[in-house]
Amino acid sequence: MKAMRLKKPGGLDNIFVASAPAATPGPGEITVRLHGSSLNFHDYLVVKGMIPVEEDRIPMSDGAGVVTAVGADVTEFSEGDSVVSTFFPDWHGGEPTVDLLRAVPGDRADGYAREMVTARATSFTQAPTGYSHAEAATLTCAGLTAWRALVVIGNIKAGDVVLTQGTGGVSIFALQFAKAAGATVISTTSNADKAARLKALGADHVINYKDDAEWGRTAKKLTGGRGVDHVVEIGGAGTIEQSMRASRLGGHISLIGVLAGYAGSINTALLMSMQIRLIGITVGARQHQQDMIRAIEANGIKPVLDQSFPLTMLAEAFRRQESGQHFGKIIVEW
Ligand SMILES: NC(=O)c1ccc[n+]([C@@H]2O[C@H](COP(=O)([O-])OP(=O)(O)OC[C@H]3O[C@@H](n4cnc5c(N)ncnc54)[C@H](OP(=O)(O)O)[C@@H]3O)[C@@H](O)[C@H]2O)c1
Repeated sequence: MKAMRLKKPGGLDNIFVASAPAATPGPGEITVRLHGSSLNFHDYLVVKGMIPVEEDRIPMSDGAGVVTAVGADVTEFSEGDSVVSTFFPDWHGGEPTVDLLRAVPGDRADGYAREMVTARATSFTQAPTGYSHAEAATLTCAGLTAWRALVVIGNIKAGDVVLTQGTGGVSIFALQFAKAAGATVISTTSNADKAARLKALGADHVINYKDDAEWGRTAKKLTGGRGVDHVVEIGGAGTIEQSMRASRLGGHISLIGVLAGYAGSINTALLMSMQIRLIGITVGARQHQQDMIRAIEANGIKPVLDQSFPLTMLAEAFRRQESGQHFGKIIVEW
């Protein structure tokens, strides 16, 4: 069966069409005919060779499709079910351990840029009803990360104020989950057209972070001086100061990405005096994904899709991501 693979040392010209066997499912396993995936910054780091992986690795952490065969003892799935992969196949719930976070598909293990896969049934959950396979695939990494930041860790409630940064996959999901929870959302972007699209999605305020270097202070002013309850921090070192400036006393910042710098100085006096809870997070557990999907179905949330590419044009899809022009999730369908 067809699969896309990555030659060492990586690079978009080193993604090639190959094959991968489709085994008969053993006890506890299912076989899935995959039809969709979506791009994450993490996948980009893999295909560019910035996260070293084994020779001829199948990339992509996200995968969704239809169950075609079920092994002995599997009761959760039946043939014909629409399913979506989990980011950490070994982390089912509870507190994570280092071992449970090791085998990330498309990184330390083969991922889902392929037609068929046989895997442990717990590597998947049911997909939301009414979702296309590509829509479902957007949930594995970006959707679940935003969910965990705001709901699992943030305990978001109606009336809270949420600050999101930029218009990538995680931030758009954070906007959607925050609005569904009854929160006010302040979003940042670098682009006027994207600002209009954020407003159309329900953002209450949009700040251009390129025009306004003090966007954190501006966000705080927009709350009447109280500050925001939650920041979904995707910039890291280059944005954390403004995120703290935006926060209320006792506010919460989920550190998710480092797009604006891997390391830098941090204003510890501000962090302490504002009693801010700063927490780094990586995606979430299978149980979190199931909870998120229940909430998605209850609220009728649909992911915001950017362009779609066929599987064999995976490198082109990553070029789109590299351009920074995308809004929401770039998808791959086959
Ligand atoms: N910890 C985790 O579990 C986890 C999970 C998923 C993703 N991440 C990380 O989160 C980050 C975002 O991921 P993604 O997949 O959503 O990426 P993405 O879709 O590629 O998002 C890129 C967008 O980020 C915005 N951006 C870039 N620099 C910015 C800055 N200085 N300030 C504000 N916005 C900025 C830009 O928005 P505009 O064009 O609107 O300016 C850009 O379009 C990445 O670092 C990724 O590795 C972490």
